[in-house]
Amino acid sequence: MDTRQQLSHKSIKRAYAAVSPIYDLFFDRIFLPGRVEAIKLSAIGPEDRVLEVGIGTGLNLPLYPLHRRLVGMDFSEQMLRKAGDRARTLNAAHVRLVVMDAMQMGFQDNCFDHVFATYVISAVPDPIQVLREIKRVCRPKGHIIILNHFKSEHPVMGRLERLMSPLITRTGLFKPDLPLTPLLEQAGLVPDQIHRVNLLNGWRLIRCTNSEETYPEARPIIN
Ligand SMILES: C[S@@+](CC[C@H](N)C(=O)[O-])C[C@H]1O[C@@H](n2cnc3c(N)ncnc32)[C@H](O)[C@@H]1O
Repeated sequence: MDTRQQLSHKSIKRAYAAVSPIYDLFFDRIFLPGRVEAIKLSAIGPEDRVLEVGIGTGLNLPLYPLHRRLVGMDFSEQMLRKAGDRARTLNAAHVRLVVMDAMQMGFQDNCFDHVFATYVISAVPDPIQVLREIKRVCRPKGHIIILNHFKSEHPVMGRLERLMSPLITRTGLFKPDLPLTPLLEQAGLVPDQIHRVNLLNGWRLIRCTNSEETYPEARPIIN
């Protein structure tokens, strides 16, 4: 199964435009423990430049240290509008929100110290390309933090996720059976920490310290 052909720009944009008014009802409380751990894991310094990829409605905004330099990007204007409302409510003048495609970011190489992707990497059209872009914009030795559900290593659960995948992926919201290890390998990322978080430890929180090495040649992930 080629993960890069599962979700299309069009279906994702349509899905997140539709769910933006109710997104926080489902993604706030239940997914909060992982968010808190993710931000702790990166130890953001006072002058550090932070990027959040696919920031959505900005549910992480209250969790970042307030005085940091933070850029949030997403290609859904509807989701980003919600993030803007949240930033105003929080009086977070330091936050810059931009409409942008994570597959082709308009940032220079090495310009962030920390890049966060929470609950995003299985919701993009091409996860390998997005991780490569993340690697490009993160400075060498900077932190890349990925929080996501990946294909279960439990044989029964893994098979179930795979069975349900075509149906769920068709909604445009996410792909439930993205395998972690080949994804990181293809993106040229080596994790230095992996934790299990959230309900039933069903989500993984990964920290990679970015290297100067480039990534291997792209191949589709066979799931
Ligand atoms: C499940 S939501 C996660 C939102 C947020 N990161 C959070 O923690 O709640 C996935 C987000 O990824 C965004 N997204 C998907 N593909 C994208 C792309 N190619 N470029 C930018 N944003 C993208 C969607 O618009 C949506 O806001």
